Amino acid sequence: MEEKLKDLRLDYGRDRLEISDLQTDPIIQFKDWLELALHTEGEIEPNAMVLSTVDADGLPSSRVVLLKDIIDGHLVFYTNYLSKKGHDIAETGHVSVVFWWRLLQRQVRVQGIAKKLDTKYADIYFNTRPIGSRIGAIVSPQSQVIESRDLLDEAVRREEEKVEAGTMPKRPDHWGGYQIEPKCFEFWQGRSSRLHDRFRYTRESGHWSIVRLAP
Ligand SMILES: Cc1cc2nc3c(=O)[nH]c(=O)nc-3n(C[C@H](O)[C@H](O)[C@H](O)COP(=O)(O)O)c2cc1C
Repeated sequence: MEEKLKDLRLDYGRDRLEISDLQTDPIIQFKDWLELALHTEGEIEPNAMVLSTVDADGLPSSRVVLLKDIIDGHLVFYTNYLSKKGHDIAETGHVSVVFWWRLLQRQVRVQGIAKKLDTKYADIYFNTRPIGSRIGAIVSPQSQVIESRDLLDEAVRREEEKVEAGTMPKRPDHWGGYQIEPKCFEFWQGRSSRLHDRFRYTRESGHWSIVRLAP
């Protein structure tokens, strides 16, 4: 298997990226790339992003979440506030996310500060979710140790009975959104021979500056 890993090699060459291709506002640039990813057949879950959080001891932790909105330039995802990531965000607020669009040979990295999103957005979004997902958000003590799958399934059944009796699931207080205020973006376009194109945006005295980075 290790030999196979060494032999895996894909040379990128689908596109290139010049500073003149970039929007001055990285959010607009990000939306342009996301839009293309959303319309690229085979680019599965293009809104999936690896979210890294950091706890009070500086220990990082990463997992995939789904980007569900962009509000006033902030990236929004929904989760359980009492989860591991929720605790990390309460402790430091420092996060980074990375998108990898395989077919487009593109990566976007964002560093920023995460804060809880106004509950009005969570209420609206929660009620658009399939019933099963709403019930899941209610019954799952995300990130906690549980005795068995059966306990979870029983809790789901109890909630399903309430729905059958006419009570629709309400958003629990422990479930809601986070908004990430971006402080730094990096746009990466795969190129041949690992000589990729990379551009980093950082915010300086109210405006975004762009530099090219070595691959
Ligand atoms: C494709 C994909 C999408 C996911 N989307 C979410 C999401 O939007 N929100 C969420 O809480 N967990 C999502 N998860 C599950 C998380 O990766 C993770 O297991 C969970 O949030 C618990 O993480 P934590 O214990 O680090 O807080 C997703 C997982 C995958 C693979």
